[in-house]
Amino acid sequence: MPESISEVALTSAHTVSQAKKPLRIAVLVSGSGSNLQVLINAMQASALPIEIVGVISNREDAYAITRAKDASIPVAVLSHVASGKRMGIKTFESHASEQLKVWQPDLIVLAGFMRVLSGPFIDNAPAPMINLHPALLPAYKGLDTHQRAIQAGERHHGCSIHVVTAELDAGAVLTQALLAVNQKDTADSLQARVQKLEHQLLPWTILLLAKGALSLGTAPLAHQQNTFMPTLPLKLYLND
Ligand code: GAR
Repeated sequence: MPESISEVALTSAHTVSQAKKPLRIAVLVSGSGSNLQVLINAMQASALPIEIVGVISNREDAYAITRAKDASIPVAVLSHVASGKRMGIKTFESHASEQLKVWQPDLIVLAGFMRVLSGPFIDNAPAPMINLHPALLPAYKGLDTHQRAIQAGERHHGCSIHVVTAELDAGAVLTQALLAVNQKDTADSLQARVQKLEHQLLPWTILLLAKGALSLGTAPLAHQQNTFMPTLPLKLYLND
């Protein structure tokens, strides 16, 4: 839940159209990177006022790396030490911090990033951090969200974008996209349907942030004027 409604502000359409500088975004990934691809496509089509300044992957086999390289976006792969063991989280965070300081993002986006980050890393990051989570938070934090939603007989499911805090999947929820669970849905079919929502929710949320229509409770990411106060999370109801 948001700390307070007053942390959020929507600007007038006039103000929105005046934003000039692209929002510098760093994206953290672990897997296929379909959400990263949506952002790359939007950036390349000038459909979003963003510049993806770099991608960090904690897995060297993540297809997201290929997507970033194909788009000539700098990539840091922080996955393994020389012995072949998984990089410890402290080592990962220290390399990631250095890299982020070089890229100087305005916003850090966790898009399918599957490592749990520490409080000090999050607090000392050079930009606010948001995470895309495949459930309607605060329900179904953690893993296996689709299976758990089906088992619980949920009638609605979806995805959320929230501010990253030290407590897993517990930061203020900014936006959500919802769908109705079908009787025939399996975890796989539900995951596929929710991913389609994610591909709309992520750019929509970043657009609101880039235009200063949503703030993260810290310094606004864009100039804000003529504010009014919506209740968070903002919800997209979509038919698929
Ligand atoms: C997304 O569905 C996202 O919701 C999920 O990983 C997938 C990554 O897909 N994230 C989490 O589960 C985070 N806890 P992608 O690599 O194709 O964007």
